[in-house]
Amino acid sequence: MTPKPDPFTVPFGTVLCDWMTTARADGGPFVYGGSPEPYGDLTISPAAHVLHYGSAIFEGLKAHRQADGSLAVFRLDSHVARMVGSAQRLRLPEVDAGTLKQMIIDAVEANATEVPDPPGSLYIRPTLIGTEADIGAAGRPTRAALLYVVNSPVGDYFKGGIRPLTLLLETSLQRTVPQFGMVKCGANYAMALGPTLDAMAANEAVDQILFATGGDITETGAANFFLADDERIVTRDLDESFLHGVTRDSTIQLARHLGYEVQERPIGRDELVDWSERGEAFLSGTAAVVAPVGTILHAGETLTIGDGQPGRNTLRLRQALVDIQVGAAPDPFDWRTPVRG
Ligand SMILES: Cc1ncc(COP(=O)(O)O)c(C=O)c1O
Repeated sequence: MTPKPDPFTVPFGTVLCDWMTTARADGGPFVYGGSPEPYGDLTISPAAHVLHYGSAIFEGLKAHRQADGSLAVFRLDSHVARMVGSAQRLRLPEVDAGTLKQMIIDAVEANATEVPDPPGSLYIRPTLIGTEADIGAAGRPTRAALLYVVNSPVGDYFKGGIRPLTLLLETSLQRTVPQFGMVKCGANYAMALGPTLDAMAANEAVDQILFATGGDITETGAANFFLADDERIVTRDLDESFLHGVTRDSTIQLARHLGYEVQERPIGRDELVDWSERGEAFLSGTAAVVAPVGTILHAGETLTIGDGQPGRNTLRLRQALVDIQVGAAPDPFDWRTPVRG
C-alpha cells in the first residue's frame, strides 16, 4: 500500500484514516455494534432520502496529541450536543449523545497511530444521512438513517500557517436561511457555495467571505468573527441566523479567564473602520483555530486592520487555546476527553 501523504502538504481533509464507526437506524434509535470497521465506501439506494431531500448533518471536532504522548478529544460534549440539536431541527432520527460519544472515541482510538503531532491534529467528522429509499418522501422525514464517524489527519486549514487573512465583506447575500443558520447541515454549505465562489473569483487574495447581510456582521463560511483590543473582545450575540461555534464559546470563556471584557452584540460595517484604526480582528473555528484577520475588502475599498499583521491579543488567545488543546496547560474548563493513544 502506498504511504499516505503528509497532511501538511495536501489540502485539509483529503487524507482519510483507516478506521470508521457506523450505526444504523431503521424506524427506531441508532444501533451501534460497538467496534470500528475499515474505512470504505458506503452502499446506499439511489432513492435514498439524503440524495433527494438533503437529509444530511455533520459535525467537526478535533483530537490532539498531548505533551505526554496520549490523546484527547477537544470539547467532545459540546460538539455532540450540537449534533443532537441539528438532528432535531431536521427531524432526523434522534441521536443518543452517549452512543455518538462512544462512536467518536472508538474511531479516534482505532486511528490513534495516524494522529500527527501538534500543530497537526486529528479532524473528526461525525455525519448523519437519511437512507430511506422513497423518492416520494419529500414531505416527511427519513425513517432510516446512517450515522458514521470518519477521521482525517490535518495540518493547517489556511495555507501558509498563521498569517493575516483577507476577508471579503458581503452585505447582500445570505450564507443560509435565517432559521437554519445554527444547524450544521450540508444544505447550508451547498447554498453558500455558488455566491461565495462568484464573490471570490474577482479577487484571488480573498480567504473567506465575511457574511454581513444587511450590514449585520455574523460569520464566514467556516468560522465566527471577533474584534479585539487590549481590554475587550467583541463578537455577534447568538441567534438562529449563524452557527454557534464551539471555538467561539471557548474563546469567550478563555478571554474572560484572562481578564478581557466580553461583548456579545451586533457589529455593524461602520464599526470596522473605527476598529481597524486601533484594534484587531480574528476568526474562530475548529479548523481555523484562532486566525488573525489583516485585511477586509468591501465595495472596492481596502480596510487594513491595525498594521495588517496578526495582533498580540489574537495571538495570545490563540496560544492559550492551543495550550489547553495539546495538554501544555491545565484544563480549568474540563474541555479535554482523554482517549487511548
Ligand atoms: C459556518 C460556520 N461558522 C462557524 C464555524 C465555527 O464553529 P466551531 O468553532 O464549532 O468549529 C464553522 C465551523 O464549523 C462553520 O462552518
